[in-house]
Amino acid sequence: MNVLDAIVSRRSTRVYKPIPVEREKVEKILDAGRYAPSGGNNQTAHFLVIQKKDVLEKLVTLVQEAFAKMEVCEGMYKSIRNSILQSKTGNYVFNYRAPVLIVVANQKDYGNNMADTACAIENMMLEANELDLGSCWINQLRWLNEDPSLLSYLKELGLREDERVYASVAIGYPETPDGLPLRKPLDRKGNEVTWIL
Ligand SMILES: Cc1cc2nc3c(=O)[nH]c(=O)nc-3n(C[C@H](O)[C@H](O)[C@H](O)COP(=O)(O)O)c2cc1C
Repeated sequence: MNVLDAIVSRRSTRVYKPIPVEREKVEKILDAGRYAPSGGNNQTAHFLVIQKKDVLEKLVTLVQEAFAKMEVCEGMYKSIRNSILQSKTGNYVFNYRAPVLIVVANQKDYGNNMADTACAIENMMLEANELDLGSCWINQLRWLNEDPSLLSYLKELGLREDERVYASVAIGYPETPDGLPLRKPLDRKGNEVTWIL
């Protein structure tokens, strides 16, 4: 698969097989993230690679509890609104029970924290695609990155005092009839292009 094929055929996977991903595949994906560019070659992205079931379950519980305490309001971003409403029903699983969650943190006072994170996440999703694994950007830990319970738990897991989470990526084998990720690209209706020739 060349780079453009990997880019065009990458799609978000939201249903995963409950089986682990081989260590060497996770390491390749991690390398793809670590070799992403960073502002000023800062290399301050911190990758927390979570595969332990108890830890993933605890995060699911903490995320649900945090959203369940919030109220929806006018003009709220629709995904946050849905997260709140689903959490109030007690059935919210933010990571789709993927067997791997790579959380990307960075220094909270660094101006390119989000940009560096996005480069790393996209690289990891592309490598996952090349390895026939499904992936999905997971934003909830960023929305909740000042939630006291989550922050304290993430610090127990290794998040440093001066870091916050800017995104995470779920990875695993897709639950599809052929076991491969869905690869049919969505139409590009937006993304205006202005050529200046
Ligand atoms: C910044 C960003 C945040 C996203 N957050 C989530 C998320 O929290 N949960 C989720 O299921 N998908 C999330 N996505 C995935 C998008 O919904 C998805 O990329 C988009 O619908 C296009 O579908 P595709 O990835 O299959 O091409 C996010 C994507 C981006 C770029």
